[in-house]
Order: sequence, then structure tokens, then C-alpha cells
Amino acid sequence: MSDSLDKSSLSSELKAKVEHAVSLLQTAHQEYGDVTFANSLGAEDVVINDLICRFVPEIEVFSLDTGRLPEETLTLLAKLEEHYDRKVKVYYPEANAVESYVREKGINAFYQGQDLRKACCHVRKVEPLKRALSDKKAWVTGIRREQAMTRGTIAFNEWDEGNQLQKINPLADWTEKEVWAYIKAEEVPYNELHDLHYPSIGCAPCTRAIAVGEDVRAGRWWWENPDSKECGLHPVTSLKKPS
Ligand code: ADX
Ligand code: SF4
Repeated sequence: MSDSLDKSSLSSELKAKVEHAVSLLQTAHQEYGDVTFANSLGAEDVVINDLICRFVPEIEVFSLDTGRLPEETLTLLAKLEEHYDRKVKVYYPEANAVESYVREKGINAFYQGQDLRKACCHVRKVEPLKRALSDKKAWVTGIRREQAMTRGTIAFNEWDEGNQLQKINPLADWTEKEVWAYIKAEEVPYNELHDLHYPSIGCAPCTRAIAVGEDVRAGRWWWENPDSKECGLHPVTSLKKPS
């Protein structure tokens, strides 16, 4: 690894986790060749993006612009491109599919029930993701075990049956505190909504600020049960958070 991390103020425990994450990324690049990183521009993903840009730049970076992202997220996308002098490959939903959904169901139909919500996520996220992954051998994501009961048993490197390629989760064992320690120590640009009590950020109409003590994903699809809060990008692998 480059010696630029040697000078960083990260704790030795976190440095070890960073080294492990980088080695997972390097091995993925060596073993699978065509690897792409799904960058949601959330806190975990700005960390992974930093690691990729600094240590494994061969890995491609893409984002799904659903058409309903907060302005702050798109501002961050532009900021990251400038900061790392590197373009992010942006995918958009199929215009016809969005038009049909909105005409048939309504512009904000996702509030009416889980089926309509998942149908919107399918059009705006899942289908574009399929295109982004279509010619790849592996993809990298920022999911962590601690994030949600639906993610309690994810591995660092696992077969993604739904998408038929390898899935690398380099921050699977990181805590939220560690994510923020890295962002601060390495001065990584991040979404300014995080400073306004939005720990987890998705589409604007489906994300709100949380109150003190609430779960980090409480502001995502807040009208649904915690065991259903996935949009189809990631399968539900468990219904228990690690203790
Ligand atoms: S979500 O499924 O509930 O929306 P979350 O916001 O926790 O997911 O993000 C989990 C991971 O999914 C991110 O670390 C990222 O790898 C991927 N992801 C989610 N949203 C996007 C997006 N808009 N563009 C690219 N990747 C995304
Ligand atoms: Fe649609 Fe909300 Fe899913 Fe975004 S998060 S794709 S707006 S239902």
C-alpha cells in the first residue's frame, strides 16, 4: 500500500481494517479483472471511492441517478469528480419505464404501499443496476453488517446469485464510527446532508432526517417495517443485526 496512509492519524485498529479493505479490492481486481464499484455517494461509499482512487484506480466507479436524488447528492458527485480528477459513470433509468410508471401509478405512488414502492425502485435502481453490471465479473458495494437486520450476515466476498457475479463488500465489518473516523482523518468530501442528521441517504422523497437515538436507517422508507427496507439492489441475507 502507498505510504500516504502511514502518515495518517487513523488508529492502528482502523488502519488494519483499511489495509484489509484495500487488499480485498486489489485481489478482486487481480482475480476478476472487470470490477465495478456502485457508488451511492453515501458515507461508506465516499470511503471506498477514496480507497479505489488512491490505491486501486483500475476499478471502475459508477452511480445510479434515479432522477429523484437530493440536490446535495449530485453536488457531491460533481465535487468528487473534481477532487479525484476522475469521472463517475452515471446510469439513468429507462425514460419509457419511468413515464409509464408515473402515468399509470402517479408521481409519488411509492407512498401507497410496498408493491408500488418496490416497483419504483425496480424502474429507477434495479434495472439500471443490471445494465451497469451486465459485462462485469464482480462489483463492489458499501454495505455493512451493522447497517440493518437485512444485512447481518453479509460476507466480504460472496456470490451474487441474483446478478450472477461476485460481490465484494470491503466495509462489511466496519462500524459507523470507523467510517466517520476515516472520512475525517483523510478529509474525504461527503454529502452535507449527513451534517443535518441524515446518516443514510437515498432518494429525496424516501429519505428523511432521524431523531437522536433512532436507527441509522430509520429515515429511509420510514413508513415501512425494518424487515422490508431493501430496494432490490441487495438481497435480504438475514433478519438479525449482529450483536
Ligand atoms: S439501498 O439499497 O438501501 O438504497 P444503501 O443506500 O444502503 O442501499 O446503499 C448500499 C449500497 O448499495 C451502497 O453502498 C452502494 O454500493 C449501492 N447503492 C445504493 N444506491 C446506489 C446508487 N444510487 N448508485 C450506486 N450504488 C448504489
Ligand atoms: Fe422510487 Fe423511492 Fe425507490 Fe427512489 S427510493 S427509486 S423514489 S421508491
